[in-house]
Amino acid sequence: MPQFDETELTEAVVASFDETPDPRLKHLMRELVRSLHDYVRRTGLTFEEWQKAIDFLTRTGQKCSPSRQEFILLSDVLGVSMLVDAVNHRERDGATQTTVLGPFYVGEHKPMPNGTDISEGVEGERMYVQCHVVDLGGQPLAGVPVDVWHADDDGFYDSQKPSYAEAGPSLRAQFVTDAEGRFAFRTILPCSYPIPIDGPVGELVLAAHRHPMRPAHVHFLVNAPGFEPLITHVFIEGDKYLESDVVFGVKDDLISSVELRNDAVMPDGRDAPGPWHLMTYEFRLKPGRGAAPRPMMAAAAG
Ligand code: BEZ
Ligand code: FE
Repeated sequence: MPQFDETELTEAVVASFDETPDPRLKHLMRELVRSLHDYVRRTGLTFEEWQKAIDFLTRTGQKCSPSRQEFILLSDVLGVSMLVDAVNHRERDGATQTTVLGPFYVGEHKPMPNGTDISEGVEGERMYVQCHVVDLGGQPLAGVPVDVWHADDDGFYDSQKPSYAEAGPSLRAQFVTDAEGRFAFRTILPCSYPIPIDGPVGELVLAAHRHPMRPAHVHFLVNAPGFEPLITHVFIEGDKYLESDVVFGVKDDLISSVELRNDAVMPDGRDAPGPWHLMTYEFRLKPGRGAAPRPMMAAAAG
């Protein structure tokens, strides 16, 4: 009958994966066991703490639904999402920095003509967003689809609202770059907002006396054939949460100054409805391949 001390036990469990035919699965499982066992040894984890952890993970799973992914939120607040992003984007070669996709990308954004106002009927300070998509040599990339989405003035995404199914998309769309690699749209200035805190992840954040806030940003998914899909945000300079984003997603190059303007017309030549903000950003894409992510709702549906 085998009997193991603390260290022998780890090696026995590691060895139990020796016959795994998939070499990557074998490597990942052996390393996971080593790290988990090391954690238990270093912390002297008690039975009560182990049980609390099991209960926490159970409730995290139970909170998941086709429109809510509590495990991704957990990965986000533990910095794992940004670490996976970092190890997979070590060499940028001057390309735009990446950050988390977040849980509010619903995919299949409706294509809209350049210049469309995606904030019809939404209250808030008006903003004009003008962007340029180029390769690493600065050459414009035409015909590139770009999904954009952001929160409203109260910090909510359209997909978080009970009315979403009937009301349809708001503050989200797809634009396609013109012959000069440009796209533009009208919207409102987003504000900082809390991640969902009505679940176990929120409990954890609050128990740690962390705040649940993300600094104001607009999400972009730029997906050009022959280039790595670019998943990123543009953050608004001056936001008080830039230094302490709850999901650790801010990178300096992604912070943009947003100018307050009083011109009577916006850059699209049409009237401005009073003072407005101007966001300007250039996305530089890196040659490569890769599939754009599947939104959480579609992934859950299989
Ligand atoms: C977001 O930016 O939409 C987001 C990202 C991570 C967690 C929650 C929200
Ligand atoms: Fe967001």
